[in-house]
Amino acid sequence: MKKDPRPIYQKQNSFHEIKHKQKNSLAATIDRVADVRQRDDLVSKMSESHREIFNQACKDLLDSDPSDNPTLFSLSPSVVEEIATYSDSELPRYLAHRYRYEIYPQLKILDAYPPYLQIEPSSICNFRCVFCFETDPTFTEKSNGFMGQMTLDLFKNIIDQAEGNIEFISLASRGEPMICKDIVPMLEYTRGKFLNLKINTNASLLDEEKCHAILSGGVKTIVFSADAAEEPLYSKFRVNGKLSVILENIELFQKIRQANYPDLSIITRVSGVKFSDEQDMDSMQKVWGDLVDQVAFVQYNPWENVYNQPANNLDKACSDLWRRMFVWWDGKANPCDVDYKSTLCVGSSNDHRLDEIWQSSIYREIRDAHINNKRQNKNPCTACTVV
Ligand SMILES: C[S@@+](CC[C@H](N)C(=O)[O-])C[C@H]1O[C@@H](n2cnc3c(N)ncnc32)[C@H](O)[C@@H]1O
Ligand code: SF4
Repeated sequence: MKKDPRPIYQKQNSFHEIKHKQKNSLAATIDRVADVRQRDDLVSKMSESHREIFNQACKDLLDSDPSDNPTLFSLSPSVVEEIATYSDSELPRYLAHRYRYEIYPQLKILDAYPPYLQIEPSSICNFRCVFCFETDPTFTEKSNGFMGQMTLDLFKNIIDQAEGNIEFISLASRGEPMICKDIVPMLEYTRGKFLNLKINTNASLLDEEKCHAILSGGVKTIVFSADAAEEPLYSKFRVNGKLSVILENIELFQKIRQANYPDLSIITRVSGVKFSDEQDMDSMQKVWGDLVDQVAFVQYNPWENVYNQPANNLDKACSDLWRRMFVWWDGKANPCDVDYKSTLCVGSSNDHRLDEIWQSSIYREIRDAHINNKRQNKNPCTACTVV
C-alpha cells in the first residue's frame, strides 16, 4: 500500500518545541511525589477509586522500569512545571487525573467521565488564521448554523455536572472564547471548582476586566496564541490580527498579574502553530520570553480542510476518543475538534448528562470502529492523522 505523506499527529505530545522560563528539576519533583505518597493525611482524603489511580501513578513513577513497559506513566517537562504550581495537598489529586488523561487513552480504559472536557464559549472568531477551520466558509457562514455563543445557563449546567467528576477543563474549542458576551460571569462561575482550568485565546480582545476575570477565576494555564513575534509574519498567519495589539494586551495581563495577584500559581504560555520554516523559536523567545512563563510551538494539525482531504491509510485508533470530549456553544457534544462540523456528534448536553453521553452507544460505536481498524468507515476519521 502507498505510504501516506501526511505525518501522524501524536496527540499525546503535540508540542513541537517548548521553552520554560523557570526550569524545575525532574529529580526533585519525583522526590516530592515519593514524600506525598507516604502522607496518609493527604492520600486518605481521596475517594477509593482515585486513591487506586494515584497509587498506580506512584508505582509507575517510583517503582518501575520504563524499559519494561512503554505505557508507564512518566513526567514530561511541561508536567513537571505544572506540578510545581500545586501544593502537596493537591498533588495526589493532580497525579490521579493526569494519569487518567495520559494512560487511559493508551490502554483504552473508559472511565465514567472524560478525563478532559473542552467547553466552547463561542464558535465565532474575529480572526481567520490560515491553518484554522475558521477559514472554511461553509463553517463560518451564519446560515449554516455552526456559529454562536453559549448561554450562561447552559454553561452553568455543564460546570455543575463536571465539578467533582472532571478536573481538567478547557474553556476553548472552536472560535475565540473572549468574544462570548458572558465570558466574565462564566469565569466567575468556575472559580475554585477545578484543579486544572485552561483557556486559549488569540489575546486580541483582552481588557482589564477580562484579565481580572481570568486571574481571579481559577484559570491554571492561560495560552496566548501567537505564531510569530514579528510583522508581517504574525498577521500573515493570524489574518485580522495585529502583533502590536496582542503585545500590548499580553503586557497588560502581565502588569495586572504582577500588581494584583503576585502569589498566584498559574502558567502563562505563548503558543504558536508550527506551520512554516519562517517561524523560529529564537525570535519568539526574544519577544515573549520575559512576558510569559513558557513559549511553545505546537505541531500543525491539517484540520482546516479535513472534509476535502483524501482518505489516508491510517488504521491506528485515535487516543482522543478515550481522553477528551467537547461541548460546543449550542450543547452539542463531539468527540473531537478536527470534526469541526460535528459529523460525529454524540449527543447534546441539552438532553443528556455528560457521563451518559461519554458512555453512550453512539460514542462506543465510534470507539469500536477505531479499535477494530475501521476508522476508515468514519468521516472525518478517514482523513484525519490524529492517533
Ligand atoms: C482553535 S483555537 C481557539 C482558541 C483561540 N481562538 C486561539 O486562537 O487561541 C485553539 C488553539 O488551536 C490552535 N490551532 C489552530 N489551528 C491549528 C492547527 N491547524 N493545528 C494545530 N493547532 C491549531 C490555536 O493556535 C490555538 O492555540
Ligand atoms: S486559531 Fe483561534 S484565533 Fe485563529 S482563527 Fe482559529 S479560532 Fe480564531
